[in-house]
Amino acid sequence: MAEPYYIDEDIGKDDDSAVGTPTAPYKTLLHAMKCHPPQSSKYMTRKGGPDGPGDYKAASDSAMKKATKLYQQHLRKQEKNADAEVKAREEEMRRLKILEDAKSVVIEEDKSLPEAKRIRLDDTEGVTLGTAEKKGTRVKVMGRVHRLRSQKDVIFITLKDGYGHMQVVFGGDLIRTYAALTLTLETSLEIKGQMRELPPKANAPLNRELHADFFRVIGAAAGDKEAITNKVQAGGDPQTLLDQRHLVLRGDVLSSVMKVRAAVLRAFRQAYVETRCLEVAPPSMVQTQVEGGATLFGFKYYDEEAYLTQSSQLYLETCLPSMGDVFCICPSFRAEKSLTRRHLSEYMHVEAELDFIEFDDLLNHLETVICRVIELVLQDPVIASYVKELNPDFKPPSNPFKRIKYADAIEWLNEHKIDFDDEDVPEDHPERKRPHRFGDDIAEAAERQMTDILNVPIFLTHFPLEIKAFYMPKDPSDPRVAQAVDLLMPGVGEIVGGSMRIWDYEELIAAYHRVGIDPAPYYWYTDQRKYGTSPHGGYGLGLERFLAWLCGRFTVRECVLYPRFTNRCTP
Ligand code: 4AD
Ligand code: MG
Repeated sequence: MAEPYYIDEDIGKDDDSAVGTPTAPYKTLLHAMKCHPPQSSKYMTRKGGPDGPGDYKAASDSAMKKATKLYQQHLRKQEKNADAEVKAREEEMRRLKILEDAKSVVIEEDKSLPEAKRIRLDDTEGVTLGTAEKKGTRVKVMGRVHRLRSQKDVIFITLKDGYGHMQVVFGGDLIRTYAALTLTLETSLEIKGQMRELPPKANAPLNRELHADFFRVIGAAAGDKEAITNKVQAGGDPQTLLDQRHLVLRGDVLSSVMKVRAAVLRAFRQAYVETRCLEVAPPSMVQTQVEGGATLFGFKYYDEEAYLTQSSQLYLETCLPSMGDVFCICPSFRAEKSLTRRHLSEYMHVEAELDFIEFDDLLNHLETVICRVIELVLQDPVIASYVKELNPDFKPPSNPFKRIKYADAIEWLNEHKIDFDDEDVPEDHPERKRPHRFGDDIAEAAERQMTDILNVPIFLTHFPLEIKAFYMPKDPSDPRVAQAVDLLMPGVGEIVGGSMRIWDYEELIAAYHRVGIDPAPYYWYTDQRKYGTSPHGGYGLGLERFLAWLCGRFTVRECVLYPRFTNRCTP
């Protein structure tokens, strides 16, 4: 027998640094066996290195028995792996052969079939469904593979085209083509075939399916590692999902929210037609602030300093004398410092301004418009089905909305032990969290807690003047508070901010001075008070917050195509 192999349980190594000599021993008997099979080897073992309790001795019978058993298990596993590898190679060869053969399967359109009628995937007019007895309409559709299910003799595809979904069935030669065998999600296709009724108990969009007789790949989508399912996954890392927003947009959730968004915009415009407000488009590049300097985005406008607008309100006010009540739906920009679930740097601002009104008229108008928008949106059965899917518990609000004065809200918060979190006080100071006091700006979290508990839309009114914008007038019956309103919605909090506007010239000048604004660049705004002033008011509604409420989304980021917020301006 050859030289024995050496094992030291303590200083030995089961890696390439050991060779099984007395000075470079292995650590375990099993490892020594793997390197030098027991049929032709002897093993010497010891513990504790050269200074240990004893020198190398032949491995004991019991140690040999135990290690041999493990060694045999190891051999069996190796054999099994080798078998699996052979099988996998064979399977791959078979697959490649099928694919190779598939390249010669060419499908031709059967010219004897009726001319195909081009339809969108949600079209039903003029489309009859075939049965076992009668033929259905032959149609041509274009779309992308949204879902794919391959069976032995048939491939089921859910096709999407932005208008709807359609179940498509490939059978016969179609599934033996190279294109069908390598079909990937998102591949764009042209398909022709006959529309049919569904078999009993089957489920598919619009209760129909397309039995394809011909198809053509327009643009294949990447597969394997690059497949869309490998790039974006529901619940994946939020930053990755934002980087791949263009692919996320292809999914059901985001695309449904975007369709509801379009319907909401349409409904607002309709509601404004009905309330006789005229649409105008104020500029986005401005040189005045509306909601305070802290959130202004500045930029170089040629050689001057300018800002992206925070609100179109001041411009809307200038339209009243000649156009009557007006509205605009334009982006507003805010350099918000905090990352919260309801703040964006760029958001869609729905703003309106109403002339010759009192504070109550403003609240009544807001209720009317919001309830009407919801009514119009849910009148469309397709949009209503998206809302149902996204937010099954949504209840349309009832008119009138609950009205709470700020002072009463402060009391309510204290009764419900919802504290004020004073960020001006150090984290560990006992005064950091304390009961709310008149004058506190109710924070986002407290506001949302109140709204969620009351669980109905709330008009929160009559805020202290100091915490509101410079243009808001005093309430005649209580000069501590402004004629201002926030509309709060469950799950979101504030979705609207509005108020009456100071309409007295001197009072406005005093307001500029109070907040340290130089009146000079505001001459055009001040002039409204100089040339036939009037009591008027208006509001701004954040479209993404409205959608977060309607669609039950956790954050406004889910309600905009490509969200912009702190450190995110791509793609
Ligand atoms: O309360 P705000 O700041 O009011 C104004 O801008 C008024 N000048 C509007 C007017 O009276 N015409 O903003 C109005 C609404 C908020 O209630 C909120 O819904 C939304 O705009 N909003 C934002 N939405 C998303 N991200 C942000 N950073 C937002 N800031 C305000
Ligand atoms: Mg506000």
